[in-house]
Amino acid sequence: MADMSEPYFQHHVFFCLNQREGENACAQHGAQEAFDHCKQKVKTLGLAGKGGVRINKAGCLDRCAGGPVAVVYPAGVWYSYVDNADIDEIVEQHLKQGKVVERLVLPDNVGR
Ligand code: FES
Repeated sequence: MADMSEPYFQHHVFFCLNQREGENACAQHGAQEAFDHCKQKVKTLGLAGKGGVRINKAGCLDRCAGGPVAVVYPAGVWYSYVDNADIDEIVEQHLKQGKVVERLVLPDNVGR
């Protein structure tokens, strides 16, 4: 039986890469580039894998107004980022050291 006390990944990150014809969506705001950058950085730092970090693609996460967005589980911390410097900060601070990057946290009232 699975051990429920420890998650398989310490930080499981989902990037919305959703694209919508003629409408606002994360893909129009550099989500794919950020995803690629994040995945590469996590790999380079040796954080990827069981007990560590996993970066996954996602469809619309239903918080488009704050896009581009990503969410870190199991903590459920939501981020809105702008560029690779923001991604670097999330990786270095949160995924490596476990410290939430408060300045990039998506406010609770931001939805679709
Ligand atoms: S399009 Fe990215 S959260 Fe909806």
